[in-house]
Amino acid sequence: MSSTTVITNIATLVTNDPSSGDGSPLGLVRDAAVVIVGDRIAWTGESSKAPATDNRVDARGRTVLPGFVDSHSHLVFAGDRTEEFNARMSGRGYTAGGIRTTVAATRAATDEELEANLTRHLAEALRQGTTTFETKSGYGLTVADEARALRLAAAHTDEVTYLGAHIVSPDFADDPAGYVALVTGEMLDACAPHARWIDVFCEKGAFDGDQARAILTAGRAKGLHPRIHANQLSYGPGVQLAVELDAASADHCTHLTDADVDALANGDTVATLLPGAEFSTRAAWPDARRLLDAGVTVALSTDCNPGSSFTSSVPFCIALAVRDMGMTPDEAVWSSTAGGAAALRRTDIGRLTPGARADLTLLDAPSHVHLAYRPGVPLVSEVWRRGVRVVRQGPVAG
Ligand code: NIG
Ligand code: FE
Repeated sequence: MSSTTVITNIATLVTNDPSSGDGSPLGLVRDAAVVIVGDRIAWTGESSKAPATDNRVDARGRTVLPGFVDSHSHLVFAGDRTEEFNARMSGRGYTAGGIRTTVAATRAATDEELEANLTRHLAEALRQGTTTFETKSGYGLTVADEARALRLAAAHTDEVTYLGAHIVSPDFADDPAGYVALVTGEMLDACAPHARWIDVFCEKGAFDGDQARAILTAGRAKGLHPRIHANQLSYGPGVQLAVELDAASADHCTHLTDADVDALANGDTVATLLPGAEFSTRAAWPDARRLLDAGVTVALSTDCNPGSSFTSSVPFCIALAVRDMGMTPDEAVWSSTAGGAAALRRTDIGRLTPGARADLTLLDAPSHVHLAYRPGVPLVSEVWRRGVRVVRQGPVAG
């Protein structure tokens, strides 16, 4: 029999269960408690009604919310792009071409170097409350380098995405069709066993709509489910292709026509917004309000990568989304937890309801609103993953 633990004296509990607490989408319960049995949530409600348990943890008036679900990152890479960032902040624009710098560094790295970099960024994300993350290949662009990236990623997460179609490999600069044939052929065969998802960067300078459709369709035939980098740098066919192919998510969604918004509102594809990319490329923000008002399901994630968004911090993205993209604090918190889960087509995470995974974050704040209200402040004081406390922050004694 698993041991039972109650976390009690929670000022604000975010359940993401609208049938709980205040009836809002966040299902907020004040003066709350959570009971954990093994790796699952067993009960949530008012502290005074909590059942007896083996162990008791006093939250001392902190906030508890589901662990963040970061449904879009690129963490298998080597090197960094400080100079490119510096040049951008002096006025140069961002293009897909910078990816080549990271491809060269990643190919030159050993497995050990890549894994050490990956685990360092995962630890960084965990300290900031991320309990589930998706990550991609895309900085190898050879059969061996893409398969290696996915194998390394799969040792750390179930949410692994094959992105051989990040850009046309520099080895195929004069033969993009040859590269698409590789991505949909031998490379796909080598990568599919390690991945759940297939992704394409559908953009000028990367892959057009026809190439993206061919790549995603080939992936689907091998059992991978589509997600797409769509409409990041310019208007284009990516979002509508995502809906047509029932992609779990269309990611970025920065340049949208009314027809794109309508397609998202009428399909099952989540719009994943990645404000770290607009921040770090000094680009115009995606319009979250327009999507939400149209009834689109919105996720909020980091896009952590060394080129366009070198942040692993979901709280930072929440603050940006609230300040600059028209989201309310409640919407941004929902999108970075339940929204991320929806973008990964998961129902066992992103919520604190009986039976869900006991992945949760304690904030040193009386409510979740402080994530946006106190930008840049390290509010995450504890993280629990699968019922185990894996992060506990505090001053070093002495
Ligand atoms: O999501 N858009 C394509 N891929 C990444 C950027 C990768 C890079 O610049 O290294 C993104 O922003
Ligand atoms: Fe990305």
